[in-house]
Amino acid sequence: MKIKKAVIPAAGYGTRFLPVTKAVPKELLPIVDKPMIQYIVEEAKASGIEFVILIVNHGKEAIEDHFDINYELEDTLRKKGNNELLSLIDGLSEMIKIVSIRQKKPLGLGHAVLQAKNLIGDEPFAVVLGDDIIDSEKPCLLQMSEVYEKYGKPVIAVQKVPREDVSRYGIIKGKQAGNSIYMLEDVVEKPSPDKAPSDLAIIGRYILTPEIFEILEDTSSGAGGEIQLTDGLKVLLMKKGMIGYRFEGDRYDGGDKLGFLLANIAYAMKRPEIKDKLLECMAGYIK
Ligand code: UTP
Repeated sequence: MKIKKAVIPAAGYGTRFLPVTKAVPKELLPIVDKPMIQYIVEEAKASGIEFVILIVNHGKEAIEDHFDINYELEDTLRKKGNNELLSLIDGLSEMIKIVSIRQKKPLGLGHAVLQAKNLIGDEPFAVVLGDDIIDSEKPCLLQMSEVYEKYGKPVIAVQKVPREDVSRYGIIKGKQAGNSIYMLEDVVEKPSPDKAPSDLAIIGRYILTPEIFEILEDTSSGAGGEIQLTDGLKVLLMKKGMIGYRFEGDRYDGGDKLGFLLANIAYAMKRPEIKDKLLECMAGYIK
């Protein structure tokens, strides 16, 4: 079955980016000149997703506006004949069908995903975090959809991380069953390096089946009174099996200062009009 719906949780507070995130949603911080979340929505569209469910909270209205028509601005650019700038914004509202739902309390990623239950219904769907940017030739979500179609089991994207960093991630335990395929036995949240079952970390892309909703409803609050998605994944794994997929591409954690800056440099290097000047300036810093 093709994956047609994607949930984008974007209802976190983005505290690692304070003070900017006091009034500006983290998901709208730019990678060069495009908000992070636009990269995610474009990836979803390029992966065959037809319907996006944004999970937002109070103060994130600007995300909705970004994917809406700004008639005045479009009209002004049109009258000025500035088609180049117009082309950057006029397709945004029609790019993909998007609805947003509010997560009224910040009760965790699992709780955020649960808000999409009624709109997802009875079909497999994708979850993509609003600040996890992956630069790849073939969109990461498309790679994952193909793995889902082949194996018919939930798929989570994983990435090799340095051993000393495993305690910052959910880590998988599983048996390698192909070049980039792992049949999962367990997922462990933030293990210490000596207890980690592998160095493969779960990142912000998932293909889940609708059983996850009942599981999350039954999942009692974990750390910090939150409903953790990882706790739900453990149960889904027992019920349905699950695949860890080592995707092809470069991933940037846009919710982290260093990750955000690295994403900006990497994407700026792809812009011919910026690249040479950027390299020249960087060389000036490395003295
Ligand atoms: P993070 O742990 O990165 O939290 O959430 P955050 O609030 O965005 O950022 P920091 O850590 O305070 O800087 C992972 C993802 O889950 C979403 C976030 O928006 C982010 O995409 N999330 C988290 C929710 O939608 N709701 C929640 O209650 C918690």
